[in-house]
Amino acid sequence: MMLCMKTVLITGCSSGYGLETARRFHSEGWNVVATMRAPRADLLPLDARLRVVALDVTKPESIAAALEASGPIDALVNNAGIGLFGAFEATPMATVREVFETNTFGVMAMTQAALPQMRERRSGLVVNVTSSATLAPMPLVAVYTASKTAIEGFTASLELELAELNVRVKLVEPGYGPSTRFTENGGARMAGLISEPYAPLAARIFQSLGKPSAVTTAADVAEGVWRAANDTTGQLRFAAGPDAVALAKAR
Ligand SMILES: NC(=O)c1ccc[n+]([C@@H]2O[C@H](COP(=O)([O-])OP(=O)(O)OC[C@H]3O[C@@H](n4cnc5c(N)ncnc54)[C@H](OP(=O)(O)O)[C@@H]3O)[C@@H](O)[C@H]2O)c1
Repeated sequence: MMLCMKTVLITGCSSGYGLETARRFHSEGWNVVATMRAPRADLLPLDARLRVVALDVTKPESIAAALEASGPIDALVNNAGIGLFGAFEATPMATVREVFETNTFGVMAMTQAALPQMRERRSGLVVNVTSSATLAPMPLVAVYTASKTAIEGFTASLELELAELNVRVKLVEPGYGPSTRFTENGGARMAGLISEPYAPLAARIFQSLGKPSAVTTAADVAEGVWRAANDTTGQLRFAAGPDAVALAKAR
C-alpha cells in the first residue's frame, strides 16, 4: 500500500484542468478532495482516497463548509476560474466584478480560509492557477487578464510572507486550452461584449485562435500543478502547456 497520504483540495473539478489535476493527484497516491459547485459522483474514481465536496469560491459559507468537511489538507489548488472575452468599453462593471469575484477574490478567500491550519502545522502548499494571458498581453481580454495578473502579484508577495512558516505558494500559468469547457462556460457572460467598433479586431483574434500553433491540454496543466507541488528549488512560476512555455521563455 502506498504511504503518501497527503491531502489536496482542488477547486473547480467539474471539468477541464481541475478535473484532470484531481485525477493526476489521485493516481499519484494522494488523498483528493475534488470540489465542485454542483457535485457529481460520476466524474472521478470514488474510493477511500477521493471525495467530492460542494464548493462555490464566491460564497463564504460554502468555503467554510467545504473546509470543515475536508478535514486537514496539506495542499490547496485554486483552479476554479471563469473567462471573459469582449471589448472593455462594452463590459458592464457588474461583469467586471463577477470575474474578479471568482478569479481573484475567490482565490484570496480560499487561501485565507486554508492558511490557519497550514500555519499552525508549519507545513502547507497553495498553488494558484492563473493564465498565460499574464505572460503576454492580447486584446479583448483586459478584464480577465487583470483578474489573473492580480493573483500573480498576490502570490509573489504571499510567497515571501509565508516562507518562514514553511507554507509554500506557487503559480501555474496554463496556455490556451480549447478542449476544456472554458469558452462555453463563459458564453452567456460574453453576449453583447463585442460591440460594433471592435468587431473587426475580434474577427481577427477569433481567426488566430482557430488555428493556434500550439495549445495546452488538461494533462499539461495537471503536470504543471504536480511539478509545482513537488518543487524543492523555490521556483514560483510554472508555465503549463507548450504555448505558455514559449511565452514564458520569450519574456
Ligand atoms: N482553457 C483555457 O484556455 C485556459 C487558459 C488559461 C487559464 N485557464 C484557467 O484554468 C482554470 C480552469 O479552467 P478550464 O479551462 O479547465 O475551464 P472549465 O472547464 O470551465 O473549468 C472551470 C472550473 O471552474 C469552476 N468554477 C467556476 N466558477 C466557480 C465558482 N464560483 N466556484 C467554484 N468553482 C467555479 C467551474 O465549475 P462549474 O462547472 O460549476 O461552472 C469549472 O469546474 C481557470 O482558472 C481558467 O481561468 C484556462
